Amino acid sequence: MSVVGARPQFVKLAPIAHSITELGHEHVIVHTGQHYDPMLSDVFFRDLGIPAPDAHLGVGSGTHGVQTGAILAQMDEVLERFRPDCVLVYGDTNSTLAAAVSAVKLHFPVAHLEAGLRSFNRAMPEEHNRVLTDHAADLCLAPTEVAMRHLASEGLAERSMLVGDVMTDVLYQVRDRVLETGGANPFDGEFESGGYYAATIHRAENTDDPERLREVVDALSQADKPVVLLAHPRVRAKAEAHGIPLEQGALTAREPLAYPQLIAAVLASAGVVTDSGGLQKEAFLLRVPCTTVRRETEWVETVELGWNVLANTPDEITAALTRPSPEPTDAAPYGDGRAAQAAVAEIVARLGSNAG
Ligand code: UD1
Repeated sequence: MSVVGARPQFVKLAPIAHSITELGHEHVIVHTGQHYDPMLSDVFFRDLGIPAPDAHLGVGSGTHGVQTGAILAQMDEVLERFRPDCVLVYGDTNSTLAAAVSAVKLHFPVAHLEAGLRSFNRAMPEEHNRVLTDHAADLCLAPTEVAMRHLASEGLAERSMLVGDVMTDVLYQVRDRVLETGGANPFDGEFESGGYYAATIHRAENTDDPERLREVVDALSQADKPVVLLAHPRVRAKAEAHGIPLEQGALTAREPLAYPQLIAAVLASAGVVTDSGGLQKEAFLLRVPCTTVRRETEWVETVELGWNVLANTPDEITAALTRPSPEPTDAAPYGDGRAAQAAVAEIVARLGSNAG
């Protein structure tokens, strides 16, 4: 059973769903409803060929306790109804933690995909979610060597396995499809290829405090090229609440894109500016320079290899955007695009109904 609820989890679910089906196992998909806008949810199921969810909890938005609790309150019934051999949870959202806690309490084995990532920033909701989920899980499926080291240093080595990064699997497939169809710039006619930055900002740390959001928006508005902000509903809601215009100077806001269009937009851009974890890695895999508007990153390999720069203050953001092109590299710290197969094989071997 996969439990998903937020946009990046649908991307990770796609290759897992395909691998489980290929190997002839039954797969139940539970959608918590944390993300409910069609552009944050439905389009991913459609474009990535994911089967419709078997159960939908419809929890919607709320404070951390309300949202996490609403999922917990409904999961007992769902788990008893389907009685899965394994509950697979993804990444670091409130849906991840809630599903993991529900499953351990009812003694269903839990596997955590994208285990072992750490920012060491205890103020981030994602950091609480990932640490607690790793320690609840029976099997920690790690995307990188660095993640494996974090798990080992927390005493979780025996239940951990390096499988690679499943987002890489999807990205390579979608990139090839996008390139086969001409790799068209989705902003053609409006922003020329190589002449704009593709941006996303949505983390609580950058959006919840109006002063911080104003600082980030001001910095982006002063960029040397147009900044196309693919605005997550959270940043739109917060900007509107605090009277911060998302159309100013170089900055312009657009709706979030479906996955293939996002990949096309990154490929056609001069660079990415983001606080998303997934997009930092996607930029690296597409070899597009990335500026990350945070103090730390879980994807340290992208920084070490020179393709990602952490830039938190306005001056740092400006300097990072105009930095020289990174050195080419053929390093592959996120695997070869076959992580989902490795993850499913490991789940079946360790937690499947016939596993010892
Ligand atoms: C969540 C994850 C974050 C992940 C992100 C991906 C947690 C704690 N955070 O953040 O780690 O990077 O998803 O996008 O789980 N909203 C809508 N429509 C939607 C969903 C949200 O309008 O479909 C608005 C609501 O105003 C809501 C706000 O966005 O209050 C925040 O949504 P929420 O689900 O709490 O977290 P995200 O910011 O999306």
